Amino acid sequence: MLVDGHGRELTGVRVSLTDRCNFDCVYCHNEGLGDTRGPMEPADDEMSTDDVVRFLEVAAEFDVDSVKFTGGEPMLREDLEEIVRRVPKGMETSLTTNGTFLPGRAAALRDAGLDRVNVSQDALDPTAFQEVTQSTQYDAVLEGVQAAVDAGLTPVKLNMVVFEQTAGYVPEMVDHVAETEGLQLQLIEYMPELAGRPEWAVDIDRVHGWLEEQADHVEHREMHHRRRYWVSPDDSDETATGMVEIVDPVGNETFCANCHRVRVTHQGFLKGCLNRNDDLKPMGEMTKPEIREALRETVADRVPYYGEYMVRDDDGEWVVNEEYIEDYVGA
Ligand code: 5AD
Ligand code: SF4
Repeated sequence: MLVDGHGRELTGVRVSLTDRCNFDCVYCHNEGLGDTRGPMEPADDEMSTDDVVRFLEVAAEFDVDSVKFTGGEPMLREDLEEIVRRVPKGMETSLTTNGTFLPGRAAALRDAGLDRVNVSQDALDPTAFQEVTQSTQYDAVLEGVQAAVDAGLTPVKLNMVVFEQTAGYVPEMVDHVAETEGLQLQLIEYMPELAGRPEWAVDIDRVHGWLEEQADHVEHREMHHRRRYWVSPDDSDETATGMVEIVDPVGNETFCANCHRVRVTHQGFLKGCLNRNDDLKPMGEMTKPEIREALRETVADRVPYYGEYMVRDDDGEWVVNEEYIEDYVGA
């Protein structure tokens, strides 16, 4: 088990398989690398199937027990089923996708060993959906969600980024997951750190407050300091059926203190923090010894973004911690 200087064990990895995407969501942080626009042809700079598998084998040596594949849109990789099949035994395997390619492929992914999926769905309305994703594939996404449920990739988590353009759709989405078997909702606070546009942010505490009123039951989880809200369908007296979580990392020291993940970019660079792009570490030719060394170093260098990389100034505003930067760059 690898542990960083702040006592955070590395338990999960998040592997970006491509930065290509058939959507162009206005909020997209592209796993911390910026814009996803660009050529849709298979890019030469992507890790090969073998590279990805070798990385996961090393992660497993260090007792990492979960992997999430992301992008861009990871389902643009034709070898996704093969990658999933070759994930080391016992590692929980999930995927974050925009859902458009799930119809027709969900069952094969399940057979290959995929456990769960997160599907980005920011609204229950085709027009709003199109404005946010700049895509006309709303129906394909709904079909994709259903295909994932049918294939048993459950619970299917719907990722909804809550910001100015989507906040009004929260109640509908909450009802939707309460009414639909196999779905959960993750309301994700808009993260302006790499996507820009801080003015799009909405007050996430208001969403917490609103949900608390709607919920039959609220569960507090230590991990990530997350709260789970259990909601029942609007017009029923049934016990709560739908589960809603709020992911609120922005300016949240507790969230960072509980972060147990390292990321890998599609090009095969290790990345210790979503919000930083000054900590990318290459893995050489991606031999196992090189991967081991780079992973050890990445974990050793990891610090909480809020609380160490960023600190509060005298006015309570978050500012870059100059002391840390000097040490880091000097090291
Ligand atoms: N803020 C919050 N969440 C984001 N995502 C992408 N960009 C942002 C952002 N700026 C989420 C989407 C997607 C997942 C991979 O990351 O929900 O499903
Ligand atoms: Fe970014 Fe995902 Fe939207 Fe593609 S679907 S643009 S990767 S948030």
